[in-house]
Amino acid sequence: MKKNLIQGQTVLITGASSGIGKACAEQFAMHGVNLVITARREDRLKAVADELVAQYGVNCLPIQLDVRSNAQVEAVFRKLEIDNIGVDILVNNAGLALSTDKIQEGKIDNWDTMIDTNIKGLLYVTKAALPCMLKKNHGHIINIGSVAGHGCYAGGNVYCATKYAVRALSKSLRMDLIGTAIRVSEVDPGAVETEFSEVRWNDKEKAKKLYQGFDPLTAADIADAVLYCATRPLHINVAELVVYPQAQGSLTDIYRQGEPIKTVFDITKQK
Ligand SMILES: NC(=O)c1ccc[n+]([C@@H]2O[C@H](COP(=O)([O-])OP(=O)(O)OC[C@H]3O[C@@H](n4cnc5c(N)ncnc54)[C@H](OP(=O)(O)O)[C@@H]3O)[C@@H](O)[C@H]2O)c1
Repeated sequence: MKKNLIQGQTVLITGASSGIGKACAEQFAMHGVNLVITARREDRLKAVADELVAQYGVNCLPIQLDVRSNAQVEAVFRKLEIDNIGVDILVNNAGLALSTDKIQEGKIDNWDTMIDTNIKGLLYVTKAALPCMLKKNHGHIINIGSVAGHGCYAGGNVYCATKYAVRALSKSLRMDLIGTAIRVSEVDPGAVETEFSEVRWNDKEKAKKLYQGFDPLTAADIADAVLYCATRPLHINVAELVVYPQAQGSLTDIYRQGEPIKTVFDITKQK
C-alpha cells in the first residue's frame, strides 16, 4: 500500500452501520487508517469491524452510540481518552430523513428525531472530538451534508432545514477554528442509493423506485469524495464538495431513462 498522510491515523465515523458511513469505513481501512465506528445497531457494527480487520489489518473499534444522547457521546470520548485513542479525523455522517409529509401533515416525533440526530447529534460529537484535536493542534472534521442543504423540495421541509443547519455549522466551525490547524470540510451528496429512502418511508418498494431508470451515486462514490478531502495536503481545506449523479441536474431535476424529466420526488407520488 502506498504511504499517504492519513495512514496510521484514527478516524471516528458516526452512522457506520450502513450506507455512506460504512463505505467511508471501508475506504479509510483500505488506506491503513485505524477506525472507531459508531451507530445504534451494534450487531451490524461488529460485522463491519470483523470484516475490515480481517481484510485490511487495521484496528477497528465498534462502539454502540446514539448521537442524540450527549451523555452517550461524552462517555464514548471519555473511554477513548482512557484507552489513549486520539481521533484525528471525524466523519459526522449519522443522519436520516423521515417521511415527505407536508408541514401541515407533519409528525412532531419525526421532526424531533431529524433535528436531534442531524443537527444536535452532529454538534454533540463535534464538541466532544474537539478538545483532543485542539490539544494536538491537528485534525479534520468532515460533515456529511446534502444537496438538501442548498435548496428545498415539497415535503423536504424539516430534513432540508437540518441540512441547511449542517451547512451553517460547517461554515461557522471553520471560522471558529481559524488560527488552529484543524480542517473542516462538508461533502454534500445528491441521490445515493443506500438505506436512506427505506428509512424515510419504511417502504422498500417505494424506496427502490426512487433509484430506478438512472445510475444513482453509490455509498462508495461519496466515501471516495470524503477520502479526497481527507488526503489533501495539510494547507488545503476542501470547504464544500457537492456531488450529483450525472442524471441529476439539480436538487429537484432528475432524468430517468425513457421518462419525461421529473422532479426527484414525483416518483414517490405513485402509489
Ligand atoms: N442517501 C442519500 O441520497 C443521501 C443524500 C444526501 C445526504 N445523505 C446523508 O448521508 C448520511 C448517511 O446516510 P445514508 O444515505 O448512508 O443512509 P443509511 O444507509 O440509512 O445510513 C444512515 C446511518 O446513520 C445511522 N444513524 C441514524 N440515526 C442515528 C442515531 N440516532 N445515532 C447514531 N447513528 C444513527 C444509521 O445507523 P443505526 O440505524 O445503526 O444507528 C446508519 O448507519 C446522512 O447524514 C444523510 O442525511 C444521504
